[in-house]
Parts: sequence; structure tokens; C-alpha cells
Amino acid sequence: MSNKLNAAIIGAGNIGAFYDNPSSRNILTHAHAYTNHPGFKLVGFVDNDIKKAEQAAKIWGGSSAKTISELRKNIKIDVVSICAPDEEHYKILKETAKTDILGGIIEKPLTDSLEDSRKIIGSEFFKSRKFLVNYTRRFVPEFHDLKKMIAGGKYGKFLTGNGVYGKGFLHNGSHLIDLLRYFFGEIKNKKMISEIYDFSRKDPTVSAVLKLRNGKEILLNAIDSRHFTIFELDLFFEKARIRIINNGFEMREYFLSDDATFKGYKNVSLGKTTKTSMGKALYYAVDNLYDAIIRGGNLICDIKDGYEAQKICAK
Ligand SMILES: NC(=O)c1ccc[n+]([C@@H]2O[C@H](COP(=O)([O-])OP(=O)(O)OC[C@H]3O[C@@H](n4cnc5c(N)ncnc54)[C@H](O)[C@@H]3O)[C@@H](O)[C@H]2O)c1
Repeated sequence: MSNKLNAAIIGAGNIGAFYDNPSSRNILTHAHAYTNHPGFKLVGFVDNDIKKAEQAAKIWGGSSAKTISELRKNIKIDVVSICAPDEEHYKILKETAKTDILGGIIEKPLTDSLEDSRKIIGSEFFKSRKFLVNYTRRFVPEFHDLKKMIAGGKYGKFLTGNGVYGKGFLHNGSHLIDLLRYFFGEIKNKKMISEIYDFSRKDPTVSAVLKLRNGKEILLNAIDSRHFTIFELDLFFEKARIRIINNGFEMREYFLSDDATFKGYKNVSLGKTTKTSMGKALYYAVDNLYDAIIRGGNLICDIKDGYEAQKICAK
């Protein structure tokens, strides 16, 4: 294919390069996603720890450099993935805005400060480019189908729900916020219940009640991530219950049934278990980026979505 886009990865860490390898079944790194997609050529890694960039390039191919400008000296870069820690995103985004790059993928959260994120979404450079934010679950086809079924009324009206997560409201809870925005639209307001400092002094893990546009409420439960990692969402509708479990790798649908013991009562019983394509979410994300740049398609999670999720997390 002649019109391949040259991709570079900024931040050669876990999600950039090391969560998987070229023979892994799942696609858990940006490096694996670009090397698997026919529309991209992975041209290199940038990391201020040059050894990590070199190690990543040895596994996935391409060059290594300490800065974007160093990598760009000899190689044309069309898109970047920003996979450095949260607090580095803004600095890297500003560097990116000095280039002629067409777009890329920004790991969530957009930045670690609402004020900085506001500058990014207001910038002419980012408005005129195709940058998506990797709120992973949006890119999974089964969750896209679920959104359509909710909107189409298959499960009846939404009643209530709850989500559990740990490791920071912005760092991780924003995944839940984004998924709820994706399914139900804007979150009208929130009431904080309590907070745990299990990850960062700047980003507590918050238990809260969120109110949706339709007036219904969802409880977010903070779980201390020093004990274990969890990410689940449980949604209750008039005619069904939907559980998203195992970090989104599995979804269970429960439908109305008559209670076998107590005559006249109704239950919700497990109807269908789906193993989702969560293990390929990053492939679908780079595919969305390609479609947006080459064919003018819509970004599934753009920088405004990243900003809106962050706004809800901000105190
Ligand atoms: N979407 C998801 O589900 C998901 C999952 C994991 C991580 N993330 C996000 O990805 C980002 C990276 O997380 P990780 O776990 O891979 O981190 P990591 O610590 O494993 O890797 C980060 C890398 O960035 C490098 N780095 C630091 N500052 C840099 C800079 N200014 N320029 C270039 N490189 C720099 C570090 O040396 C390190 O190699 C975070 O923002 C995190 O929130 C998202």
C-alpha cells in the first residue's frame, strides 16, 4: 500500500511497547496496533530514557530517539501516539503542535490539568488535526452495539447503575465517566461521597453519585487499588440488567424471567455472556485514526470527549 502513514510512539513504556509482543494474540500496545494495521508504518520510538526507546525499537522495528525533533530529523512522521505518563502529556502536546503532524492518539487522560486541557481543545492546531483520546472501551465493537441497543430501547428505560474502579478518579475513573457519557450522553451533575488516596495525592479515587441527563443516578464505588485492580459497570433497565466485567473483556446480559420459587415475582436471569473484542481495542483505535485522516471519518473519542470526561473528574 503506497499511502501508508508513518507512526511514531512517544513514551516507550507499557502501553506504548511492552504490554505485549509481536506474537501475542491480543493487541495491547500502540506498537502492536500500528504494526498490525495495513495503513501504518511504525517508524520509531521517542523516550527520554533512550534505553527504553532502543529496547522497544528492537522488538517492534523503527528508530529510537530522545526527542520528537531528533526523530524527525531523518524521518517523516504523520501520526504520533502519546504514551508518556499523564503529567507529561501537555508538554508533549505542545511539542507536537510545532510540527506538521496530521494527528494521533493521546493516551488518557488528555492532560493532568483541566486548564491545560482547555488550552489544547482551544488550539487551532488541534482543532484542525485528527487527534483521538484513548478511552479504550469506546473502540470495542460490542460496546458500540450496546450503545445502539440502549438507544433503540431494547432493554427498556434505564433505571440505575453502579460502577467500581480504583487508582485515581482522573487516571482511571475517567474511563467509567467516558463510558457513561458514551452510552447515556452528558452527566448533569455529581455528588462526592468519599475519597481514597491509593494512587496520587493529586488524584484521589472518589466514590460519588452521578446524575444523568434523564435524571437517573449511577453510583461510583472507589476500591483501593493497593488491594487489587477492578473495573466493572452494572446497568439496570426496565427489561434487563447489563454487567460489564473483567475490565470490559466480558459482558453479561440478564433478561426478565418468572421467579421459580415465589409465584408472581419477576427476576433478571443470565441470558447471554459475550467475550468482547477488548483485547483488540487499540487496533480499532488506530483504524479509527486511519479512517479519520484518509477518508474524513468521525473520531470515536475526540479531544473534546477527553476534556468533558476530565471536567467531571475535576473538583
Ligand atoms: N487507555 C488505557 O486503558 C491505558 C492503560 C494503561 C496506560 N494508559 C496511559 O498511558 C500512559 C502511559 O502509561 P504506562 O503505564 O505505559 O507508563 P510507563 O511508565 O510504563 O511508560 C511511560 C514511558 O514514558 C517515558 N517518558 C516519560 N516522560 C517522557 C517524555 N517527556 N517524553 C518521552 N517519553 C517520556 C518513560 O520513560 C516511560 O518509558 C499514561 O498516561 C496512562 O494513563 C492508558
